[in-house]
Amino acid sequence: MPTPLRFAILTSSDRSARGERPDLSGPALTELVQSQGWTVVRAAVLPDDLKILRETLTIWADRRDVDIILVTGGTGFAPRDVTPEATRSVIEREAPGLAEAMRAASLKVTPYAMLSRGVCGIRGQVLIIDLPGSPKAALENLQVLLPVLPHAVELLREDPDAEQHH
Ligand code: MTE
Repeated sequence: MPTPLRFAILTSSDRSARGERPDLSGPALTELVQSQGWTVVRAAVLPDDLKILRETLTIWADRRDVDIILVTGGTGFAPRDVTPEATRSVIEREAPGLAEAMRAASLKVTPYAMLSRGVCGIRGQVLIIDLPGSPKAALENLQVLLPVLPHAVELLREDPDAEQHH
């Protein structure tokens, strides 16, 4: 059996980081991930701060103990929404198809899907996925990707020196 996928979940929210509003999206995403038989290695709630987000994403990705980092929140148009900038600054390769698929599917639910600027990409062997902030939107978006995540991680784990016979 393949190794279960290992996740880290980062909630970007000033109010939740200050303790003014409970973080509902992180726990909701954890539940969805675990319902697939996958594991959540770590989770944190951080303020909408570019420097803090990019430092945390870098440390988490380079620790190499997770396959996928989900970031929820901070993808909209408000001045404090900086999650896409943080993600873009740490990834080495973009994975635009994932973001395109999430926005296309979300447009069938709400026109506000156009307002999520979320970015997806790869740092080393780790996939970073931006999701909108509300629990409903975060779950709807992650649902779209569930069927392809095992193969995505399988490809990321490929030995770069192995000879390919496709
Ligand atoms: N996508 C889905 N599937 N369902 C939603 O309800 N909400 C949208 C959008 N994407 C939504 C969605 C809204 S209202 C906004 S403002 C953007 O995501 C960005 O959300 P964020 O600022 O919380 O990251």
